[in-house]
Amino acid sequence: MDVSEAIQSRRSIKIFKDIEPISKNDVEQLLQAAIMAPNHHRTEPWKFFVLQGDGRLPLSRVMGEWAKTLVDDPNSESGQKRINKMMNKPLIAPTIILVALSHDETGKGIYSEDHSAVAAAIQNILLEAHGMGYGAIWKSGPAYECEPVKSYFNLGDHEEILGAIFIGEADMKKEPVAKRQPFTEKTVWITEDN
Ligand SMILES: Cc1cc2nc3c(=O)[nH]c(=O)nc-3n(C[C@H](O)[C@H](O)[C@H](O)COP(=O)(O)O)c2cc1C
Repeated sequence: MDVSEAIQSRRSIKIFKDIEPISKNDVEQLLQAAIMAPNHHRTEPWKFFVLQGDGRLPLSRVMGEWAKTLVDDPNSESGQKRINKMMNKPLIAPTIILVALSHDETGKGIYSEDHSAVAAAIQNILLEAHGMGYGAIWKSGPAYECEPVKSYFNLGDHEEILGAIFIGEADMKKEPVAKRQPFTEKTVWITEDN
């Protein structure tokens, strides 16, 4: 698959087969793709955590404990439902690569540039995974940004998880066509000196 075909045909996959995680070699191929992302000043502002199989369970428990602090009554039916939903978040695919931004405030890197570089690294993972025939999705949000999760991964104040990338064999038909406005509606061409 060439780059253009990969970009056009990649779609987020939300449902994965509950089977063996992808091989270490394949994970390493994804990480190698990630670190080739462009980054200004070559700060290499990324950190990766690979969770596979039962290695996802501690994160699930940490998220469950965090969810308990968010509900009025953890023992109520609705409280339990919310906690279980939270605990299932890291379990939707057999492999997760958590990608964190590690921005050195004392170094040359600019926060927004380092942030963008990590996003580019994540896109590399998504495209590489797609090219290898895997399904993948980028997820994010408070569950990955909360203090207990940061602390579980020993992340400091200058660090944050920008994406949980779930990877595995798709157990759904992906949407064949991407829902996008035509680029013409988002583009201004300037071709003359005025
Ligand atoms: C920064 C970022 C965060 C995302 N977080 C989530 C998420 O938490 N849950 C989710 O279902 N999809 C998430 N997505 C995936 C988008 O929903 C998805 O890319 C979008 O629906 C377009 O679909 P496509 O990837 O198939 O083109 C995220 C994407 C990005 C770039």
